Amino acid sequence: MTTDLTIFAYGLPKAELHLHLEGTLEPELKFALAARNGMELAEKTVEEVRATYDFTDLTSFLAVYYPAMNVLRTAEDFFDLAWAYLARAQENGVVHAEMFFDPQAHTSRGVPFENVITGYRRAAVRAQDELGISAELILCFLRDFSAEYAMATLMEALPYRQWIVGVGLDSDERDNPPAKFAAVFARAAAEGFFLTMHCDIDQAGSVDNIRQVIEEIGVDRIDHGTNIVENDALVELVKEKGLGLTCCPVSNSFVTGQLKADEIVGLLRRGVRVMLNSDDPAYFGAYVADNYVALAEQAGLAPADLAQLAINSFEASWLPAGRRATFIASVRDYAAANGVELPA
Ligand code: HPA
Ligand code: ZN
Repeated sequence: MTTDLTIFAYGLPKAELHLHLEGTLEPELKFALAARNGMELAEKTVEEVRATYDFTDLTSFLAVYYPAMNVLRTAEDFFDLAWAYLARAQENGVVHAEMFFDPQAHTSRGVPFENVITGYRRAAVRAQDELGISAELILCFLRDFSAEYAMATLMEALPYRQWIVGVGLDSDERDNPPAKFAAVFARAAAEGFFLTMHCDIDQAGSVDNIRQVIEEIGVDRIDHGTNIVENDALVELVKEKGLGLTCCPVSNSFVTGQLKADEIVGLLRRGVRVMLNSDDPAYFGAYVADNYVALAEQAGLAPADLAQLAINSFEASWLPAGRRATFIASVRDYAAANGVELPA
């Protein structure tokens, strides 16, 4: 059912900060790319592809996620993938996106780094021109590969330095703590990249990994990270540092069975910079505005709460201060135009 809240959530200007481009591969595009690249897929229909989306945790999700990427080969493939996402993002009220990509998921199967980055970059440039979305790329290292491979990937990215705003860390967190990549992230920081890392939900050692990313790595943001509610001192620390936590409620429901609404809303009420994102929208069936609606329905949020989440999305972004302020003013204008009062 379309409600006023749904319309408000879709139209709300927002930044998306936790979005894996490879996680936007819809089955229809997967078939089109397979055909273009002369590949045979095991599944023959969209329904058969969706039937494989049977996840119980992060590991079982990743087991479906990586093989699906084999259809991505040429720069045009990466362009088409990112462009399709950006068009959907615009329908979801996204005006700024900081998008993850996983080069090692492609270079490890023989696809040149150049194909990946040039295709994605072309879509980002076109998004500004044709969709009015500012789009940036965040290079993620796969944490289940070695620190040496991550460092080699960072070196491979340096010629494209001006096309990449930051670096992140994703894939399977089990036995792959943040400290494993301390040297890679120190080098990335020295090169001027912003830093973020995934601290996935309900992992063994979640709280200590959150502590590591803040104290040992010195991240500028944390992806997921809602297990921080288990440690008040860390909550105070992220507040003090103004660090954003990029929450993904619908994704959470796929890998843990819960949106983690109490955790996200609790952090919002405590003044932590949480905001909502889609993570892997093609797999979890929800783009970013759908995440706002899902959390609002579960937790009984008001439009003013959604506007605060959108303000947080810009506060936690890596935009220059002036552009951040302009976007935040646009959220305030949108709220006022809809009769929604926000605290000053
Ligand atoms: N966590 C870890 N790796 C991922 C994710 C995630 O949420 N999405 C895509 N790769
Ligand atoms: Zn993620």
